[in-house]
Amino acid sequence: MRQVTVPSYLEAVRSSRTALRTAGFLALGILGLGVANGSALAASGDDLTARGAYLVAGLGCADCHTPMKMGPKGPEPDLSRQLSGHPENLKLPPPPKADGSWVWFGSATNTAYAGPWGISYAINLTPDKETGLGNWREEDFVQAIKTGKHAGVGRPIMPPMPWPAMSHLSEDDLRAMFRYLQTLPPIHNRAPDYQPPASG
Ligand code: HEC
Repeated sequence: MRQVTVPSYLEAVRSSRTALRTAGFLALGILGLGVANGSALAASGDDLTARGAYLVAGLGCADCHTPMKMGPKGPEPDLSRQLSGHPENLKLPPPPKADGSWVWFGSATNTAYAGPWGISYAINLTPDKETGLGNWREEDFVQAIKTGKHAGVGRPIMPPMPWPAMSHLSEDDLRAMFRYLQTLPPIHNRAPDYQPPASG
């Protein structure tokens, strides 16, 4: 599998746009002659992956799914753990008490969240087969985001995962994002299970 960094994908998006414009001109020319050539405009697999990289970067998935570490200028994403979710060996003490004005809290890594829903942990989005999305089908990903249920069929997906906003994206865009995520270097990291609120 080809490993490409986000910036080079963004470069690919830019050049594929130019290519599409050129293809559009050519297709128009061909249509003018009465010969439609649809395949000239069909997106190739690489174009889809590039679009996925553009969406994952622009929608800020890394803000929550890449752990923050303390750097010289404050918290910064730990790029050695890109999109691998809450670090499995980072056990947290119980969260502060909510008081009616401050109702939810995020961890220093910005990968764990406590609120009225309990405690949720950003999961591993890399294609590791045991702990990430390696065994997910494209359909599981699309349905998870469209329905707000784990893999499209399980328990409700908890805040602050922004699936309600993401569900407005087209299926094609969601597929593109999944394709891009599958090209990341797999990182073995099992984020802790979601903990429902203590009853009572
Ligand atoms: C504000 C923080 C936040 C952002 C931004 C965010 N996520 Fe999440 N995500 C989470 C949390 C927390 C969970 C775990 C929720 C749970 O356990 O129910 C999660 C879970 C997921 C899941 C698993 C869903 C399932 O079926 O169980 C996927 C897939 C996912 N995120 C993809 C993404 C993608 C792609 C983006 C960028 C478009 C993104 N997330 C942006 C916090 C976030």
